[in-house]
Amino acid sequence: MESMGLADFYKGKKVFLTGHTGFKGTWLVNILKFFGSQITGYALEPPTKPSLFEIAETSEKIRSIYGDIRDFSSLLTAMQTSEPEIVIHLAAQPIVRESYKNPKETFETNVMGTVNVLEALRKTPSVKSFVNVTTDKVYKNKEWLWGYRETEELCGLDPYSNSKSCSELVTYSYKKSFFENGSDLRISTARSGNVIGGGDFAPDRIIPDCIRYAREKGEIIVRNPFSIRPYQHVLECLYGYLLLAKKQFENKDFEGSYNFGPESKDCISTGQLVDIFCKSWGGNLKWKKFNEENAPHEASFLKLDNSKAKSLLGWFPKWSIETAVKKVVEWERGCSIEKQIEEFFLGV
Ligand SMILES: NC(=O)c1ccc[n+]([C@@H]2O[C@H](COP(=O)([O-])OP(=O)(O)OC[C@H]3O[C@@H](n4cnc5c(N)ncnc54)[C@H](O)[C@@H]3O)[C@@H](O)[C@H]2O)c1
Repeated sequence: MESMGLADFYKGKKVFLTGHTGFKGTWLVNILKFFGSQITGYALEPPTKPSLFEIAETSEKIRSIYGDIRDFSSLLTAMQTSEPEIVIHLAAQPIVRESYKNPKETFETNVMGTVNVLEALRKTPSVKSFVNVTTDKVYKNKEWLWGYRETEELCGLDPYSNSKSCSELVTYSYKKSFFENGSDLRISTARSGNVIGGGDFAPDRIIPDCIRYAREKGEIIVRNPFSIRPYQHVLECLYGYLLLAKKQFENKDFEGSYNFGPESKDCISTGQLVDIFCKSWGGNLKWKKFNEENAPHEASFLKLDNSKAKSLLGWFPKWSIETAVKKVVEWERGCSIEKQIEEFFLGV
């Protein structure tokens, strides 16, 4: 089983993560801990209160450093002193609506933050494999029905999406300019779908919103029920990042850009996702559409083509969207992330 190979590979490996205090970062730390890696994390303090990072007592599991990705010397020291073999870059301002409120900070964090990580990599020779996590929103959205392929034009519209397109371009430039000839470092970018999972407390994301309304016994308000998104469980894309980092570590031919999106049948509208959530939560929960005037632009139709990751890396989505939602509800009702990681990676 591929995931067993993954566990063997990561056992004892030194891994450096940026953004380890966030939603994906906390899940990733816990997977790597499960595999037995030596982990250093570099990020600002958890972005939400409460946070999964604190609930899952994650700081005790790793060398956790609080620092700003825009502070190059602090980042460099953190990376060099941990002598990692693998670096996964997650730190970002990741919310579209927040990027409309604070575009400058979003670009500084997401673009110059990536530049700083790449500069630090130039000065940290222990690193053999680097994955820059961007997003499904890096593509120029044409509102078409097909999934975007990795070769499609990069040009997000809103400041968040665009900053991530820029992060892709910066990575390309550094790779071609500094890591092409005679370098041991392998570099890739990873574009996942809209992730859901237990412990996401971010504002303006649909499943956290559903849970807040469900807990308050209110009616769920949905801003864009007809928007199609590549929804997936957070473990799906993290599995992809780890597999990619391993594959390129072992063989340079795997370097590149990869979509880690769900199967086409699981790319559903936000309204359908909320229907699945209401059914899974129980208790006659209902939702209604919120008609917002002058809403900031967000794409209506977004799908990723996952053929490349499937055929080259052997990565496959494991959980349907119904299972993914069920796992969120189970987490809310007390199932630990360790248990869900075990279920995902060992099938027990
Ligand atoms: N959640 C999703 O649906 C989704 C989808 C596609 C891509 N992504 C990408 O995945 C990554 C992680 O997203 P997330 O959902 O875990 O977000 P999150 O907000 O939960 O976590 C963001 C992390 O980045 C850190 N961070 C933010 N600004 C920083 C700065 N200036 N210096 C250092 N650290 C900083 C935060 O402290 C936190 O650890 C991001 O790069 C995001 O763009 C997320």
